[in-house]
Amino acid sequence: MITQVLVLNGPNLGRLGIREPEIYGSVSFDALADLCRSTGRALGLHVDVRQTDDEREMISWVHEAADARMPVVINPAAFTHYSYALRDALAMRTAPLVEVHISNPAARESFRHTSVVAAVADGTVAGFGLVSYQLALQAIAGLVAERAQKAEQAQKAEQAEP
Ligand code: DQA
Repeated sequence: MITQVLVLNGPNLGRLGIREPEIYGSVSFDALADLCRSTGRALGLHVDVRQTDDEREMISWVHEAADARMPVVINPAAFTHYSYALRDALAMRTAPLVEVHISNPAARESFRHTSVVAAVADGTVAGFGLVSYQLALQAIAGLVAERAQKAEQAQKAEQAEP
């Protein structure tokens, strides 16, 4: 069965390629989306890549993922550092969640050192350029497989009960 995954991107990431290329590289957002989809395909995932500059829209996608039990990779961009609303939405998740960053926020300005969403994610991948997304998708594939295995074991144990 193919697992559907949302790859969500926050403000200014649509300008990838022209936005501070010395930090974020010169590859466009469309090329990043292609990379995510092909990486997902190789892992047995169907990847839907989205980007918004709008907090309300981002939160509505997170709700959609929670309702559909869909795993999420999210680069919250600047929302990472201050959006308690996004953090609360992500806390309602019902499937694996990986936070991702192109740069390494810990090595940059001090306001980037805080992530208000990190604590509700399974983990964070940061600092590897676009490879961060590929690593995050690998982590999602691993978490999905682990959960499926646990569910199967629990079902078998239940059936074995007298
Ligand atoms: C970013 C890091 C954030 O601090 C910044 O606001 C971004 C991009 C990254 O991918 O490195 O917009 O999330």
